Amino acid sequence: MAIVETEKKGEIAVIRMDNPPVNALGHALRVGLERAFAAANADAGIKAIVLTGTGKFFSAGADISEFKAEMKEPFLPQLIDRIEQGSKPVVAALNGTALGGGLELALGCHYRVASKDVRQLGLPEIKLGILPGAGGTQRLPRAIGVEPALQLITAGSFIDAQKAAAAGLVDKVVEQDLLPAAIAFAEQQAGKPPRRIGEKKIEPGTFAADAFHKAKMQIGRHPSGPLAAKAAIAAVEAATELPLAEGNQRERALFRELAASPYARALQYAFFAERQAANLPGIGGDTKLREVNTVGILGAGTMGTGIALAFLNGGFPVTIVETTQEALDKGVARIKDTLSANAKRGRITAAQAADRLAKLTPSLEMADLGPADLIIEAVFENMALKKEVFGKLDKIAKSGAIIATNTSTLDVDAIAAETKRPQDVVGLHFFSPANIMRLLEIVRAEKTAGDVMATAMAIAKRIGKVGVQAGVCDGFVGNRMLAAYGGEVQAMNLEGAMPQEIDGALEGWGMAMGPLAVSDLAGLDVGYRIRKERKLTGEAAQNARIPDKIVEMGRHGQKTGAGYYKYDENRKRMVDPEIEALIRGEAEALQIKQRPIPADEIVERSLLRLANEGAKILEEGIALRASDIDTMYLNGYGFPAWRGGPMWQVDNVIGVETAAQRIKAYEAKYGARWKIAPLLAKLAADGGTFAALDAKKK
Ligand code: CAA
Ligand code: NAI
Repeated sequence: MAIVETEKKGEIAVIRMDNPPVNALGHALRVGLERAFAAANADAGIKAIVLTGTGKFFSAGADISEFKAEMKEPFLPQLIDRIEQGSKPVVAALNGTALGGGLELALGCHYRVASKDVRQLGLPEIKLGILPGAGGTQRLPRAIGVEPALQLITAGSFIDAQKAAAAGLVDKVVEQDLLPAAIAFAEQQAGKPPRRIGEKKIEPGTFAADAFHKAKMQIGRHPSGPLAAKAAIAAVEAATELPLAEGNQRERALFRELAASPYARALQYAFFAERQAANLPGIGGDTKLREVNTVGILGAGTMGTGIALAFLNGGFPVTIVETTQEALDKGVARIKDTLSANAKRGRITAAQAADRLAKLTPSLEMADLGPADLIIEAVFENMALKKEVFGKLDKIAKSGAIIATNTSTLDVDAIAAETKRPQDVVGLHFFSPANIMRLLEIVRAEKTAGDVMATAMAIAKRIGKVGVQAGVCDGFVGNRMLAAYGGEVQAMNLEGAMPQEIDGALEGWGMAMGPLAVSDLAGLDVGYRIRKERKLTGEAAQNARIPDKIVEMGRHGQKTGAGYYKYDENRKRMVDPEIEALIRGEAEALQIKQRPIPADEIVERSLLRLANEGAKILEEGIALRASDIDTMYLNGYGFPAWRGGPMWQVDNVIGVETAAQRIKAYEAKYGARWKIAPLLAKLAADGGTFAALDAKKK
């Protein structure tokens, strides 16, 4: 089928878009639509037009990959204006997802009917750091009212057909076959003057006088960065003051400003980086996946229960096994509590919560994991225990089952070697809380089979996670980089930056939470135990002094009401002079002369340590691509998506050459921990970038 096809049904022209995979409105589709509408309008035998899509998509919007290049005519706003201005009524038959430019196209049509199964209608441009740029900010408030439009546009959220009908966005929800219903609807409109949303005037009394002020006050730390939400609100405000053509111009001007910002570029990069991570070199899209319908989990502690929830929420039946009745009961209670809390908050219905809980089978018998297609081990982080458990699982698991470990630091090759089927063993490194955090580090051990990797990647998607491949090394990708960054934070502590200054600088820059506040949340005792086991020496031992002392004071973080900070009963963090005194005392004992460290230095040192370690990881082949590293940081470590990730920052903001110079300068000042990654030095010397390196691998 051509990209756009017109079929005549009596006096109705049915124009169908077919541009797989998502009907993105790229240049060819825009040209096709323009021609099809011109032809239908010129055809005297046609009285009304139906516009529809194919499969699950009406249209997912503008083609994001075209944003980097100069756009070619017809531009989407022009095309939509022309459709609206047409004299024959146009009915959008929403067969599936209509997002961004796709929904704007539907808003340019005179009527909208939607299949009852449509789930994704919205203007998510804000998530790409831009605003709806094809009349969406002008037509949506005219269609559904100012406040609901502001809400939908600034959140970038989706609504389904039923909600859209209640809001006035959709004229009719169709229970049966969409197309005949849309044609019947068009026949009723034939010969009547079209209803053009763009001609509607928004009357002052129809929205609260302070609606825009309120919306601006609510922006806070917006996930799109500092510009987009503000601009989107201004564009909607213009819709209440200006006729469509002028409002559209205002929207366009704001759109251009945003599109040129580094934040929009970062968010668009993040969109494609996330999707690219699913492509595993050497493992084709035609790889036959292993069938995974049932999941078994060993260990019902913090991670085991979180992982169980993630799979229950994804619709899988889960068997969870513990060693004692007490531990099992505790784990099951945690799962139950989380499900009922989600139901209370309205995130799921009570029936869904009950259904998910019914799919959970608690057990004290490891043998009950035998029938599971996928088994995930989440017992204590102890190599002897993991080895013992994998030896047993090898005897229990059915043939062809995938056996995964959730270890965060141990050698997956050594664990796999305890089985006679290392090809079936993989690391599935979830992040805490596992039912919430999107990142899933998929650790490919030396012998992990290709179909196991491909299946793990597909499972990640089925449970709403972002899967990214990592190789075997201490800490894999994410935590190994975190260790470098954490070490720098400790050094800055000793050098004179107080916890609130470090966290304040990084949060001010956009991190969801500063590193020391995160440590308090995760529990300081975890790292303490690891450090004691490792018997640190030299600089690492020096850097461990402050966190060790804090733990030895009985301050394990939020759970004990104190760590780097004090916490009140609402877990609000407060600066603690006792900790400041401890930090000063330790520096004095080590004869380190303290100084105030400016916020930009704190941010720079944090970023450069992350990226330098990232470059080493890339060179060792532990991460496949720089964009994979960024995807991990955006989805597992609270790194703001509008900053692109540590590797993107080096390429696009700091500059590879400057980064190399700065790292060398820090090495001269602080020594070995700042040793530059050979790959980064080479890129700087050759005028290269991480992105160019990634592109070569495609
Ligand atoms: N442009 C270009 N490519 C797109 C795209 C778009 N708008 N939306 C999706 N794709 C591509 C993806 O990159 C992916 O490609 P690969 O298979 O090569 O990796 C493919 O389509 C399928 O996408 P997903 O894997 O994401 O499929 P999904 O079914 O899980 O999700 C979706 C589908 C909900 C539409 C999701 O892709 C999505 O959210 N897309 C972005 C929607 C969006 O933001 N639209 C607004 C665009 S900006 C705009 O329209 C500006 C304007 O006002 C003019
Ligand atoms: P946890 O201590 O909360 O839970 C471990 C559970 O395993 C306990 O309930 C224990 O009773 C159970 N267990 C021990 N031996 C068992 C056996 N032989 N059979 C069945 N159950 C057994 O520990 P947590 O935090 O859940 O960690 C589990 C694993 O997940 C570790 O490998 C850890 O490194 C990893 N991990 C932890 C993260 C975290 O933030 N806590 C993050 C990512 C990975």
